[in-house]
Amino acid sequence: METTRRVVLAGGSGFLGRSLAQVLEARGYEVIILTRSPAPGSAREVAWDGRTLGDWCARLEGAVAVVNLTGRSVDCRYTLENRREILSSRLDSVRVLGEAIRRCATPPSVSVQAASLAIYGNSGEAVRDESSPPGEGFSVDVCRQWEQAFAEQRSPGTRQVLLRIGFALGRDGGALGSLARLARWGLGGTVGSGQQYVSWLHLDDLNALFLRAIEHPSMHGVYNATGPSPVTNAEFMRTLRHVLRRPWSPPAPAWAVRVGARLLGTEAELALSGRRGLPQRLMAEGFQFRHTDLSEALEDLLGTRHAPAAAKSASA
Ligand SMILES: NC(=O)c1ccc[n+]([C@@H]2O[C@H](COP(=O)([O-])OP(=O)(O)OC[C@H]3O[C@@H](n4cnc5c(N)ncnc54)[C@H](OP(=O)(O)O)[C@@H]3O)[C@@H](O)[C@H]2O)c1
Repeated sequence: METTRRVVLAGGSGFLGRSLAQVLEARGYEVIILTRSPAPGSAREVAWDGRTLGDWCARLEGAVAVVNLTGRSVDCRYTLENRREILSSRLDSVRVLGEAIRRCATPPSVSVQAASLAIYGNSGEAVRDESSPPGEGFSVDVCRQWEQAFAEQRSPGTRQVLLRIGFALGRDGGALGSLARLARWGLGGTVGSGQQYVSWLHLDDLNALFLRAIEHPSMHGVYNATGPSPVTNAEFMRTLRHVLRRPWSPPAPAWAVRVGARLLGTEAELALSGRRGLPQRLMAEGFQFRHTDLSEALEDLLGTRHAPAAAKSASA
């Protein structure tokens, strides 16, 4: 098969994949999305089950890159069944992609794996870079096994890059939309102690990082894929309220977050725990983040620069 500028996005139908696909296509790549539910007749979306080899493997032949974004969302109750799926969807997809790559006559030049900054656990004020130890708990165990499984998928000729992604802030999906909605309803107060860190990055920067991982042969191994300016939850929520022109909201004590999380079908840990990640290796390699100021990033994403004019004319 002739070598094309093809990039295969496994699990590319989700929040990160949809955005990355647009960026890659704008740059002239052919994008193939591996999904359990391809749109009928779509040439771009190809069926797989995330677990077993199949016809989809042919799309990896001669590809520039495969990027694995597969994983059952962690935004759910951690029932036994959900825990199993959170883990197995990640391990199975990593393993089957590794197997598919090893079977290629012309394997992809690079395999990029999404992972999570949650590997550092709930680690308070301590700065976490790539040399820091993992934390403790269910999410950490998932991250460790996920990374281990990827490290085991060696294939000569395929460079491996693993990105420990922070809280990706984007327009269309992800957790920012839900947070902004709560804040607009007056529920954008400090969460718990407010001292837990939020390690955030703008989706534009994350896409630039994926591109860099694909295009720079010097990138290799594990990277913290998060911005250089993590903030406490108290500061994050204060900035969000400011950007949304909501000057004050009552704080949400930990017990209320636990009750609320139950009602919303999610885990309080996601909001009450945090980590202060830094992109040490990226900074050392000279990667320039476009969005380093939270207020600017949120203004850019939530579009409120234009909102006051609209609100004025509506109230006039
Ligand atoms: N968003 C963030 O801020 C963030 C932060 C850190 C890490 N990450 C990691 O980055 C990856 C992509 O994140 P995202 O926000 O784009 O997630 P997402 O929107 O939930 O998309 C993940 C994709 O995985 C596939 N999937 C879900 N459950 C599956 C299962 N049981 N078996 C096989 N495939 C399954 C789905 O594709 P189909 O339904 O089409 O098959 C889905 O579109 C995930 O692994 C996530 O843990 C994200």
